[in-house]
Amino acid sequence: MALLPIITAPDPRLKTVASRVDAVDDDIRRLMDDMLETMYAAPGVGLAAPQVGISKRVIVVDVARTGDAPEPMQMANPEIIEASSERSTVEEGCLSLPEHFAEVKRPERVRIRYLDRENEIRERDMDGFLATCIQHEMDHLDGILFVDHISGLKRGMIMRKLTKLKKQDVKAGA
Ligand code: NI
Repeated sequence: MALLPIITAPDPRLKTVASRVDAVDDDIRRLMDDMLETMYAAPGVGLAAPQVGISKRVIVVDVARTGDAPEPMQMANPEIIEASSERSTVEEGCLSLPEHFAEVKRPERVRIRYLDRENEIRERDMDGFLATCIQHEMDHLDGILFVDHISGLKRGMIMRKLTKLKKQDVKAGA
């Protein structure tokens, strides 16, 4: 397995719609494993392939609490097939927008269809933090960041700070 570099915003690769996976084969399984390792190392609770520069519809998630047994999930081509009309507001962050957080409102419960690690079609009902996290990661596959769900004013503020940070990094040769 290998750690992959995580892209931070602003970057056009984070705004691109990713392509569907034909089948979960050894290459996709390797990507899923590398993504999981990268996510744990960050550390984070979710990661989407576009965040490591791969424009494919692959996500990994683990929302197990610290100290509990890990609950890794690896999905290709995830789709929301049902969403509750009830919505919940959760404070979100993102490995591609380091150190920025905002409250985002999303459906509280969703039913997801996806291809698992063995290339089997699965469906799963999710609620709570897992539902939030999966929807956040699925947004990445369509080039959507959590800041796209908040006011333009707050988004502008966060993006200006990230742009400034990036320019400083370039100057410092990071
Ligand atoms: Ni994210």
